[in-house]
Amino acid sequence: MNGAFVFLGPPASGKGTQAKLLSERLKVPHISLGDILREAVRAGTDEGNRAKSFMDAGKLVPDELTISLAKERFARSDCKNGFIVDGFPRTLKQAEAFESILGECGIELSSVIYITIPVDVAVSRLSGRRSCKKCGAVYHSEFNPPRKLDVCDRCGEKLYQRRDDTEEVIKTRFSVYEKETLPLVRRYGKSGKLKEIDGSASVDEVRNAIEAAGRGK
Ligand code: AP5
Repeated sequence: MNGAFVFLGPPASGKGTQAKLLSERLKVPHISLGDILREAVRAGTDEGNRAKSFMDAGKLVPDELTISLAKERFARSDCKNGFIVDGFPRTLKQAEAFESILGECGIELSSVIYITIPVDVAVSRLSGRRSCKKCGAVYHSEFNPPRKLDVCDRCGEKLYQRRDDTEEVIKTRFSVYEKETLPLVRRYGKSGKLKEIDGSASVDEVRNAIEAAGRGK
């Protein structure tokens, strides 16, 4: 494989969950811009300190900052045979920058997997989400629970709840998504690379639908 897969969709549509599964199957890195930004906030870097207030409010971090973080990550050697990215691009400016970065790296855009879900399903998913800071695994207290309460199955780290998973911030994240990111659906739709997937089914059913879409079914 020498291509890039992009996961696009509203908060809680399952981008991170499905991107991780696809990366395990294709054996290429899974890059989550949200994870990169949260790590920068935890580490207290200049980028993290700039991003924190935007993330806590559910707003987008400025384009030049996300573009520079994404560019730095895609240039690493583990991406040379392709990668899977979720949460980038999210604006038209980021999409334009992404196209240039792919050209510079000699990587083709394989598919944009656009996962949809109704808002009420998203809100119930986010309230039960638990995440692992160490390995990035994502669980749900009801739909996808870890074997041991609040402990990561993969690495044994204690799970945590994200600061932006409150009802008020979730509403802002949705309206920001509709205003800034939905225009990308039209853009990639025109390119013929967009694959729309109903994300309201179970994790396994969504994974199967993504695999079938990849086989052109
Ligand atoms: P980010 O972390 O990317 O948040 P998001 O886009 O709001 O998406 P989520 O992570 O909430 O949802 P997801 O679709 O990945 O779902 P998940 O698989 O986790 O970004 C956070 C913030 O960072 C942004 O608000 C912004 O401030 C900043 N940022 C990031 N990228 C940026 C960019 N490019 N530009 C500017 N700013 C940027 O699943 C959710 C829950 O549902 C989990 O509990 C999971 O177990 C469960 N679940 C998943 N699938 C299913 C299923 N099929 N059935 C039942 N439960 C399921």
